[in-house]
Amino acid sequence: MTARTLREFLADPTGAGTPAPRDLAILIEAISDSCRTISHLVSRGALADILGSAGTGNVQGEEQKQLDVLANDEMMAMAKASRVVAAAASEEEDDARPLTPGAPYLITFDPLDGSSNIDVNVSIGTIFSILPAIAGEGAAPFLQPGRKQVAAGYCVYGPQTTLVLTLGHGVAAFTMDPPTGQFVQTGANIRIPEKTKEFAINMSNIRHWADPVRAYIDDCLAGDTGPRAKNFNMRWIASMVADVHRVLSRGGVFMYPWDKREPNKPGKLRLMYEANPMSLLVEQAGGKSFDGKQQILDIQPTGLHQRVSVMLGSKEEIEILETKHAAA
Ligand code: AHG
Ligand code: MN
Ligand code: MN
Repeated sequence: MTARTLREFLADPTGAGTPAPRDLAILIEAISDSCRTISHLVSRGALADILGSAGTGNVQGEEQKQLDVLANDEMMAMAKASRVVAAAASEEEDDARPLTPGAPYLITFDPLDGSSNIDVNVSIGTIFSILPAIAGEGAAPFLQPGRKQVAAGYCVYGPQTTLVLTLGHGVAAFTMDPPTGQFVQTGANIRIPEKTKEFAINMSNIRHWADPVRAYIDDCLAGDTGPRAKNFNMRWIASMVADVHRVLSRGGVFMYPWDKREPNKPGKLRLMYEANPMSLLVEQAGGKSFDGKQQILDIQPTGLHQRVSVMLGSKEEIEILETKHAAA
Protein backbone atom coordinates (compact mmCIF):
# COMPACT_ATOMS: atom_id res chain seq x y z
CA MET A 1 0.00 0.00 0.00
CA THR A 2 1.39 3.42 -0.89
CA ALA A 3 1.55 5.99 1.89
CA ARG A 4 -1.43 8.30 2.18
CA THR A 5 -1.24 12.06 1.88
CA LEU A 6 -2.76 14.21 4.62
CA ARG A 7 -5.75 14.83 2.34
CA GLU A 8 -6.28 11.10 1.84
CA PHE A 9 -6.00 10.56 5.60
CA LEU A 10 -8.66 13.22 6.26
CA ALA A 11 -10.99 11.41 3.85
CA ASP A 12 -10.90 8.36 6.17
CA PRO A 13 -9.04 9.12 9.42
CA THR A 14 -10.21 6.09 11.42
CA GLY A 15 -10.18 3.51 8.62
CA ALA A 16 -13.95 3.01 9.04
CA GLY A 17 -14.76 4.79 5.78
CA THR A 18 -16.07 7.98 7.42
CA PRO A 19 -14.43 11.25 6.41
CA ALA A 20 -13.45 13.93 8.95
CA PRO A 21 -16.09 16.71 9.15
CA ARG A 22 -15.65 18.81 6.01
CA ASP A 23 -14.91 22.10 7.78
CA LEU A 24 -12.40 20.40 10.07
CA ALA A 25 -10.62 18.85 7.07
CA ILE A 26 -10.51 22.30 5.43
CA LEU A 27 -8.91 23.75 8.57
CA ILE A 28 -6.36 20.97 9.04
CA GLU A 29 -5.28 21.24 5.40
CA ALA A 30 -5.01 25.02 5.74
CA ILE A 31 -2.85 24.59 8.86
CA SER A 32 -0.61 22.18 6.95
CA ASP A 33 -0.26 24.77 4.16
CA SER A 34 0.87 27.34 6.75
CA CYS A 35 3.30 24.87 8.28
CA ARG A 36 4.82 24.31 4.83
CA THR A 37 5.23 28.07 4.40
CA ILE A 38 6.75 28.49 7.87
CA SER A 39 9.03 25.51 7.25
CA HIS A 40 10.37 27.17 4.10
CA LEU A 41 10.94 30.45 5.95
CA VAL A 42 12.69 28.65 8.82
CA SER A 43 14.92 26.70 6.43
CA ARG A 44 16.08 29.90 4.67
CA GLY A 45 17.00 31.60 7.97
CA ALA A 46 19.80 34.13 7.49
CA LEU A 47 19.41 33.94 3.68
CA ALA A 48 16.01 35.60 4.03
CA ASP A 49 17.30 37.99 6.72
CA ILE A 50 14.61 36.80 9.14
CA LEU A 51 16.69 35.77 12.16
CA GLY A 52 17.02 37.88 15.30
CA SER A 53 14.70 40.11 17.25
CA ALA A 54 11.64 41.88 15.89
CA GLY A 55 12.30 44.64 18.44
CA THR A 56 8.87 44.13 20.03
CA GLY A 57 7.44 42.24 23.04
CA ASN A 58 4.36 40.07 23.44
CA VAL A 59 1.66 40.10 26.13
CA GLN A 60 3.82 37.84 28.32
CA GLY A 61 6.62 40.42 28.29
CA GLU A 62 8.83 38.19 26.15
CA GLU A 63 10.95 39.49 23.29
CA GLN A 64 9.45 38.62 19.89
CA LYS A 65 11.77 37.25 17.22
CA GLN A 66 11.17 38.16 13.59
CA LEU A 67 10.09 34.57 12.93
CA ASP A 68 7.58 34.67 15.82
CA VAL A 69 5.89 37.61 14.10
CA LEU A 70 6.06 36.16 10.58
CA ALA A 71 4.70 32.78 11.72
CA ASN A 72 1.92 34.51 13.66
CA ASP A 73 0.91 36.59 10.62
CA GLU A 74 0.86 33.45 8.47
CA MET A 75 -1.31 31.50 10.94
CA MET A 76 -3.75 34.40 11.45
CA ALA A 77 -4.12 34.96 7.68
CA MET A 78 -4.71 31.21 7.21
CA ALA A 79 -7.37 31.07 9.94
CA LYS A 80 -9.22 34.02 8.41
CA ALA A 81 -8.99 32.76 4.82
CA SER A 82 -10.22 29.28 5.81
CA ARG A 83 -13.65 30.80 6.66
CA VAL A 84 -14.23 27.99 9.17
CA VAL A 85 -12.71 29.80 12.20
CA ALA A 86 -14.95 32.08 14.26
CA ALA A 87 -12.04 33.50 16.28
CA ALA A 88 -8.34 32.87 16.80
CA ALA A 89 -5.97 33.41 19.74
CA SER A 90 -2.19 33.37 19.65
CA GLU A 91 0.75 33.52 22.03
CA GLU A 92 1.82 36.62 20.12
CA GLU A 93 -1.41 38.63 20.42
CA ASP A 94 -2.93 40.07 23.60
CA ASP A 95 -6.56 39.44 22.67
CA ALA A 96 -8.56 36.95 20.63
CA ARG A 97 -9.30 38.05 17.06
CA PRO A 98 -12.85 37.61 15.75
CA LEU A 99 -12.63 36.19 12.20
CA THR A 100 -15.69 34.59 10.52
CA PRO A 101 -19.01 35.09 12.36
CA GLY A 102 -20.96 31.85 12.75
CA ALA A 103 -18.02 29.62 11.74
CA PRO A 104 -17.77 26.30 13.61
CA TYR A 105 -14.28 26.42 15.17
CA LEU A 106 -11.97 28.39 17.44
CA ILE A 107 -8.22 28.00 17.08
CA THR A 108 -5.39 28.81 19.46
CA PHE A 109 -1.74 28.53 18.48
CA ASP A 110 1.84 29.03 19.44
CA PRO A 111 3.01 30.09 15.98
CA LEU A 112 6.65 29.38 16.74
CA ASP A 113 7.61 27.37 19.79
CA GLY A 114 11.21 27.31 20.99
CA SER A 115 12.10 30.87 20.08
CA SER A 116 15.43 30.67 21.92
CA ASN A 117 16.48 28.01 19.38
CA ILE A 118 15.64 29.96 16.19
CA ASP A 119 18.95 31.73 15.83
CA VAL A 120 21.05 28.66 16.70
CA ASN A 121 19.54 26.32 14.07
CA VAL A 122 17.92 23.92 16.54
CA SER A 123 14.45 22.38 16.04
CA ILE A 124 11.43 24.62 16.59
CA GLY A 125 7.74 24.19 15.76
CA THR A 126 4.14 25.36 15.56
CA ILE A 127 1.50 24.11 18.05
CA PHE A 128 -2.28 24.36 17.50
CA SER A 129 -5.51 23.53 19.30
CA ILE A 130 -8.99 23.50 17.75
CA LEU A 131 -12.10 23.99 19.90
CA PRO A 132 -15.78 24.10 18.96
CA ALA A 133 -17.06 27.67 18.57
CA ILE A 134 -19.53 28.51 21.33
CA ALA A 135 -21.44 31.72 22.00
CA GLY A 136 -19.66 34.63 23.61
CA GLU A 137 -17.34 37.55 22.99
CA GLY A 138 -13.60 37.99 23.31
CA ALA A 139 -11.75 35.37 25.35
CA ALA A 140 -14.89 33.83 26.91
CA PRO A 141 -15.67 31.16 24.27
CA PHE A 142 -12.06 29.94 24.35
CA LEU A 143 -12.19 29.10 28.07
CA GLN A 144 -13.16 25.45 27.57
CA PRO A 145 -11.25 22.60 29.23
CA GLY A 146 -8.71 20.84 27.00
CA ARG A 147 -10.94 17.79 26.86
CA LYS A 148 -13.27 19.76 24.58
CA GLN A 149 -10.62 20.05 21.83
CA VAL A 150 -11.83 18.53 18.55
CA ALA A 151 -8.29 18.36 17.19
CA ALA A 152 -4.77 19.31 18.21
CA GLY A 153 -1.31 18.97 16.82
CA TYR A 154 2.07 20.43 16.08
CA CYS A 155 4.53 20.71 13.25
CA VAL A 156 8.20 20.31 14.16
CA TYR A 157 10.77 22.00 11.90
CA GLY A 158 13.73 19.70 12.44
CA PRO A 159 15.87 17.52 10.21
CA GLN A 160 12.44 16.67 8.77
CA THR A 161 9.29 18.79 8.86
CA THR A 162 6.75 16.56 10.59
CA LEU A 163 3.10 17.27 11.35
CA VAL A 164 1.66 15.27 14.27
CA LEU A 165 -2.10 15.30 14.61
CA THR A 166 -4.99 13.97 16.66
CA LEU A 167 -8.66 14.27 15.79
CA GLY A 168 -9.48 12.48 19.05
CA HIS A 169 -9.01 8.94 17.68
CA GLY A 170 -5.30 8.22 18.14
CA VAL A 171 -2.28 10.10 16.83
CA ALA A 172 -0.95 10.17 13.27
CA ALA A 173 2.24 11.70 11.82
CA PHE A 174 2.93 13.16 8.37
CA THR A 175 6.35 14.03 6.98
CA MET A 176 6.67 16.80 4.43
CA ASP A 177 8.31 15.56 1.24
CA PRO A 178 10.43 18.58 0.18
CA PRO A 179 10.29 18.07 -3.62
CA THR A 180 6.47 18.13 -3.65
CA GLY A 181 5.66 19.87 -0.35
CA GLN A 182 3.12 17.09 0.31
CA PHE A 183 2.55 15.85 3.85
CA VAL A 184 2.73 12.06 3.59
CA GLN A 185 1.62 9.78 6.41
CA THR A 186 4.60 8.24 8.17
CA GLY A 187 3.04 7.30 11.51
CA ALA A 188 -0.32 5.76 12.50
CA ASN A 189 -1.79 5.03 15.92
CA ILE A 190 1.38 6.27 17.64
CA ARG A 191 1.77 4.87 21.17
CA ILE A 192 4.06 6.20 23.90
CA PRO A 193 5.80 3.28 25.65
CA GLU A 194 4.44 3.03 29.22
CA LYS A 195 7.91 2.57 30.67
CA THR A 196 10.91 4.76 29.99
CA LYS A 197 14.43 5.60 31.14
CA GLU A 198 14.50 9.17 29.83
CA PHE A 199 13.46 12.48 31.39
CA ALA A 200 13.46 16.06 30.08
CA ILE A 201 13.60 18.99 32.49
CA ASN A 202 15.67 22.17 32.73
CA MET A 203 18.03 20.98 35.49
CA SER A 204 19.38 24.51 36.05
CA ASN A 205 16.18 25.20 38.00
CA ILE A 206 16.74 22.32 40.46
CA ARG A 207 17.12 24.59 43.49
CA HIS A 208 13.73 26.17 42.80
CA TRP A 209 11.61 23.02 42.40
CA ALA A 210 8.88 21.85 44.77
CA ASP A 211 9.76 18.81 46.92
CA PRO A 212 7.79 16.15 44.93
CA VAL A 213 9.55 17.10 41.68
CA ARG A 214 12.93 17.20 43.40
CA ALA A 215 12.27 13.77 44.96
CA TYR A 216 11.22 12.29 41.61
CA ILE A 217 14.35 13.54 39.80
CA ASP A 218 16.59 12.48 42.74
CA ASP A 219 15.23 8.94 42.33
CA CYS A 220 15.96 9.01 38.58
CA LEU A 221 19.48 10.32 39.17
CA ALA A 222 20.19 7.60 41.74
CA GLY A 223 20.24 5.11 38.84
CA ASP A 224 20.34 1.33 39.14
CA THR A 225 21.31 1.31 42.81
CA GLY A 226 18.50 3.74 43.73
CA PRO A 227 14.75 3.19 44.27
CA ARG A 228 14.00 3.08 40.51
CA ALA A 229 16.65 0.37 39.99
CA LYS A 230 17.53 1.63 36.52
CA ASN A 231 19.80 4.24 34.95
CA PHE A 232 18.06 7.25 33.42
CA ASN A 233 19.15 9.43 30.52
CA MET A 234 18.40 13.17 30.27
CA ARG A 235 17.52 15.33 27.24
CA TRP A 236 16.50 19.02 27.14
CA ILE A 237 16.10 20.70 23.75
CA ALA A 238 14.27 23.77 25.15
CA SER A 239 11.66 23.57 22.39
CA MET A 240 8.56 21.93 23.86
CA VAL A 241 7.65 20.79 20.34
CA ALA A 242 10.92 18.92 19.87
CA ASP A 243 10.99 17.51 23.41
CA VAL A 244 7.39 16.26 23.16
CA HIS A 245 8.09 14.85 19.70
CA ARG A 246 10.86 12.73 21.21
CA VAL A 247 8.50 11.56 23.98
CA LEU A 248 5.89 10.57 21.38
CA SER A 249 8.55 8.85 19.27
CA ARG A 250 10.34 6.77 21.91
CA GLY A 251 8.80 7.48 25.31
CA GLY A 252 10.00 9.61 28.21
CA VAL A 253 8.73 12.28 30.54
CA PHE A 254 8.74 16.02 29.81
CA MET A 255 8.43 18.47 32.67
CA TYR A 256 8.25 22.22 33.09
CA PRO A 257 6.91 22.26 36.65
CA TRP A 258 5.93 25.17 38.87
CA ASP A 259 8.95 26.49 40.74
CA LYS A 260 9.79 29.01 43.45
CA ARG A 261 11.38 31.66 41.22
CA GLU A 262 8.05 33.48 40.97
CA PRO A 263 5.80 31.62 43.44
CA ASN A 264 2.62 33.28 42.21
CA LYS A 265 3.23 32.22 38.61
CA PRO A 266 1.67 28.76 38.07
CA GLY A 267 4.41 27.69 35.62
CA LYS A 268 6.18 28.81 32.45
CA LEU A 269 4.20 27.10 29.71
CA ARG A 270 0.80 28.28 28.55
CA LEU A 271 -2.34 26.17 28.95
CA MET A 272 -4.35 27.10 25.87
CA TYR A 273 -1.75 26.70 23.10
CA GLU A 274 1.04 24.61 24.63
CA ALA A 275 -0.12 22.33 27.48
CA ASN A 276 -3.63 21.47 26.24
CA PRO A 277 -2.82 20.45 22.66
CA MET A 278 0.25 18.50 23.79
CA SER A 279 -1.77 16.81 26.56
CA LEU A 280 -4.44 15.67 24.10
CA LEU A 281 -1.77 14.20 21.80
CA VAL A 282 -0.04 12.47 24.72
CA GLU A 283 -3.30 11.07 26.12
CA GLN A 284 -4.38 9.89 22.66
CA ALA A 285 -1.03 8.09 22.44
CA GLY A 286 -1.59 6.27 25.75
CA GLY A 287 0.40 8.65 27.95
CA LYS A 288 -0.73 11.01 30.70
CA SER A 289 -0.38 14.67 31.66
CA PHE A 290 -0.52 16.28 35.10
CA ASP A 291 -0.11 19.76 36.59
CA GLY A 292 0.72 18.66 40.15
CA LYS A 293 -2.95 18.54 41.16
CA GLN A 294 -5.06 17.24 38.29
CA GLN A 295 -5.02 16.06 34.71
CA ILE A 296 -4.22 19.02 32.48
CA LEU A 297 -7.16 18.33 30.14
CA ASP A 298 -9.59 18.77 33.07
CA ILE A 299 -8.37 22.27 34.04
CA GLN A 300 -11.07 24.94 33.69
CA PRO A 301 -9.23 27.80 31.91
CA THR A 302 -9.55 31.33 33.28
CA GLY A 303 -7.50 33.29 30.74
CA LEU A 304 -6.17 33.03 27.18
CA HIS A 305 -2.55 33.28 28.26
CA GLN A 306 -2.71 31.49 31.60
CA ARG A 307 0.35 29.51 32.59
CA VAL A 308 0.43 26.02 33.98
CA SER A 309 2.80 23.50 35.53
CA VAL A 310 3.37 20.67 33.03
CA MET A 311 4.40 17.04 33.48
CA LEU A 312 3.57 14.68 30.62
CA GLY A 313 4.63 11.51 28.88
CA SER A 314 4.97 7.81 29.68
CA LYS A 315 2.12 6.59 31.88
CA GLU A 316 4.26 4.94 34.55
CA GLU A 317 6.34 8.09 35.16
CA ILE A 318 3.33 10.38 35.44
CA GLU A 319 1.70 7.97 37.89
CA ILE A 320 4.85 8.04 40.04
CA LEU A 321 4.73 11.85 39.94
CA GLU A 322 1.03 11.78 40.90
CA THR A 323 1.83 9.54 43.89
CA LYS A 324 4.66 11.82 45.03
CA HIS A 325 2.43 14.90 44.76
CA ALA A 326 -0.44 13.20 46.61
CA ALA A 327 1.90 12.30 49.50
CA ALA A 328 3.32 15.85 49.81
P1 AHG B 1 8.15 29.92 23.26
O1 AHG B 1 9.37 29.95 22.43
O2 AHG B 1 6.91 29.68 22.46
O3 AHG B 1 8.02 31.11 24.19
O4 AHG B 1 8.22 28.62 24.20
C1 AHG B 1 9.44 28.27 24.83
C2 AHG B 1 9.17 27.28 25.91
C3 AHG B 1 9.19 25.83 25.49
O5 AHG B 1 9.21 25.57 24.14
C4 AHG B 1 10.40 25.25 26.15
O6 AHG B 1 10.12 23.97 26.65
C5 AHG B 1 10.71 26.21 27.25
O7 AHG B 1 10.17 27.44 26.89
C6 AHG B 1 12.20 26.35 27.47
O8 AHG B 1 12.41 27.10 28.59
P2 AHG B 1 13.87 27.35 29.24
O9 AHG B 1 14.58 28.27 28.31
O10 AHG B 1 13.53 27.95 30.60
O11 AHG B 1 14.56 26.00 29.36
MN1 MN C 1 6.06 27.90 23.09
MN1 MN D 1 6.13 30.77 20.68
